[in-house]
Amino acid sequence: MKSWSLYKNHRLFAGTVFLGFLGLSSLIALQPATRVQADNAPLPTAVALTPDQQAGMRVFIGEGCVACHTQQVRNIDMDKTWGGRPGMPADYAWRQRLDVWRATPSVLGSERTGPDLTEVGVRQPSDLWHLLHLYQPRSVVKESIMPAFPWLFRDSTAGTPAGLALHVPAAYREPGNHTIVPTRRAQQLVAYLMSLKQAELPTGQALPFLNVSPPKEAVATGAPAPGGEPVLDGATLYATNCQACHQASGEGLKGAFPPLKGSPVVNNADATLMVNIILQGYNPRPEYGVMPPFAAKLTDAEIAAIMTHERSSWGNKAAPVTADFVKKVRALLKPGPATASAL
Ligand code: HEC
Ligand code: HEC
Repeated sequence: MKSWSLYKNHRLFAGTVFLGFLGLSSLIALQPATRVQADNAPLPTAVALTPDQQAGMRVFIGEGCVACHTQQVRNIDMDKTWGGRPGMPADYAWRQRLDVWRATPSVLGSERTGPDLTEVGVRQPSDLWHLLHLYQPRSVVKESIMPAFPWLFRDSTAGTPAGLALHVPAAYREPGNHTIVPTRRAQQLVAYLMSLKQAELPTGQALPFLNVSPPKEAVATGAPAPGGEPVLDGATLYATNCQACHQASGEGLKGAFPPLKGSPVVNNADATLMVNIILQGYNPRPEYGVMPPFAAKLTDAEIAAIMTHERSSWGNKAAPVTADFVKKVRALLKPGPATASAL
């Protein structure tokens, strides 16, 4: 006769444990996950990834970039550098399973050996910069500890379209006549990196960070000038906004970013063109990449501080620029109410 005792019937024993396991898994893992998922959708302003950018995400996952880079802006003060607002579930709602075998990729990451990449598409909008940086991080960020990814590039001696060749500084490539060309995977990866930006909230409202100190208007040295205005530190602002491309030495990189040291534009007594370049971006010369616009990113006072720094560094000797001057040039750009320049 069958026993109904757990101690005597091994089938009953194993079956009970198995049912208990199923019940608990459903209660603490499956149900909450499905509930969250059912109640989540991408923001209406979110732009879906193109097939190339999606392929780039697979390269990102395959190369293990997530080991050193997060893509999450936490609701705490120190994360304000990485995005305009804290991240939320909707930011990740579009993610799909990679395929039958592999689950939804987690690119949130948990370790920041390198910077968070949530908004790297805004911070670094130059594909040329990204390519050089992937080929050899030290070629654009001297003190970088990021590994190089040379296998995303080909060394091609003949028959390459000139537009694709990467101008790697001589110190970072083998001697000889090499043409370094990004593979399709490198281009897809860069397309993915440049697509990384936070979607705007549909209402246009800001989603503030909680319990954090009031927003810093600008990098100030702390000592207020006689007029009460904070003194802006042009050197620091240059380091955060311009140095990745134009380099700490002001010498730029051949074939990518022009030197500001000795530049006729920077040293011109009339600074109008220089202000225009910084506000609107610049791309007249095929031998260089694209300079992104800074009109929406920097205030008049910040631009003036950076310009004054550039015009008096690396042997440059041009007169300082005032915030008022930048404001005037900006006003000419965008005729309209005086507040347009306040941004
Ligand atoms: C071993 C850790 C490590 C790995 C792996 C790594 N990175 Fe980095 N990454 C860094 C560090 C450190 C920096 C900061 C220094 C620099 O800019 O090079 C950085 C910087 C960056 C930046 C510039 C961010 C900014 O705000 O300017 C990008 C973009 C980037 N990494 C992309 C990648 C991609 C794509 C991969 C994978 C192919 C990758 N990283 C793999 C450590 C890493
Ligand atoms: C993503 C890379 C990048 C960043 C960041 C960048 N620039 Fe540029 N900049 C360029 C490129 C590329 C050019 C040349 C464009 C061309 O001539 O086609 C350029 C040109 C210039 C020029 C004209 C120089 C000349 O002699 O023609 C000035 C001035 C300048 N940048 C200032 C700045 C300032 C100030 C900042 C920071 C607020 C800055 N740049 C940030 C890439 C960059």
